[in-house]
Amino acid sequence: MAQQDASQEHGGHAADGYGRPKEEGADFTHGIALYLEKVSVWFDSFRALNDLSLYIDEGELRCIIGPNGAGKTTLMDVITGKTRPTEGSAFFGQNYNLAKMTTEQIAEAGIGRKFQKPTVFENFTVMENLLLAAPRDKRVAKSLFSKLDPDAQLALDETLVQIRLQEFVGKQAGLLSHGQKQWLEIGMLLMQRPKLILLDEPVAGMTDAETERTAELCLELKKNHTLVVVEHDMSFIDTISEKVTVLAQGAILAEGTLAEVQANEDVIEKYLGR
Ligand SMILES: Nc1ncnc2c1ncn2[C@@H]1O[C@H](COP(=O)(O)OP(=O)(O)O)[C@@H](O)[C@H]1O
Ligand SMILES: [Mg+2]
Repeated sequence: MAQQDASQEHGGHAADGYGRPKEEGADFTHGIALYLEKVSVWFDSFRALNDLSLYIDEGELRCIIGPNGAGKTTLMDVITGKTRPTEGSAFFGQNYNLAKMTTEQIAEAGIGRKFQKPTVFENFTVMENLLLAAPRDKRVAKSLFSKLDPDAQLALDETLVQIRLQEFVGKQAGLLSHGQKQWLEIGMLLMQRPKLILLDEPVAGMTDAETERTAELCLELKKNHTLVVVEHDMSFIDTISEKVTVLAQGAILAEGTLAEVQANEDVIEKYLGR
């Protein structure tokens, strides 16, 4: 089976494939934001995801844990269209068939993702990074850092408060601490006003204080977003988690509260160790 990276591929238009026109937005009428049904991903003869079914409710904050190589990042790649499922289906709400959309269409439909490494523009200021992340059609004039329309201006003001970088709007992003860069990147996501936010190892490399602050930020974001957070840091997971999914060898090993999965024999065996 060929490599599954499909980011160059062109998906269908609203009319011919992935569902209703985007103006209508994701349809969460059944209360479910994300449906993955029996998804498998093969890389040549290696199966990175193995018949995985996952349902995320609207407004939920789901934590995903599991050993290195379990398929956590591949799962996020499937949700964001970077990797196509070899088998199975992936839907955002009732109406968006993620397997038929490009990464750009998926972002426009309301799924925002933060990768493991921060990818802010180091030579630009905090403000410039956030403006660059605003949807193009929300910039009033033609220039890159032009005025924003009122909706985008509101997103900017709210975002700066949420990521607590108001004092640093004029600071060059390259001079921020590692934690501040991670928050800036989350801020860049928020400028797109996503409905579903995916965070891949957001507290890796952070100080304890930065980790605590990131937990607070996740709990704030939960008030009006659906979140999927992949992390190894158990005290962080303990602070933010409701339902936890444990992934190992591309399949779900256990699901429940953190206490429940930590007491699960399979999880102890394959992930936590004795
Ligand atoms: N593009 C790819 N080509 C081949 N193998 C890959 C590719 N992406 C990931 N893998 C493999 O799939 C497995 C799962 O990787 P990944 O999803 O990154 O795990 P995790 O994020 O849980 O650590 C690993 O064994 C990894 O080497
Ligand atoms: Mg990973």
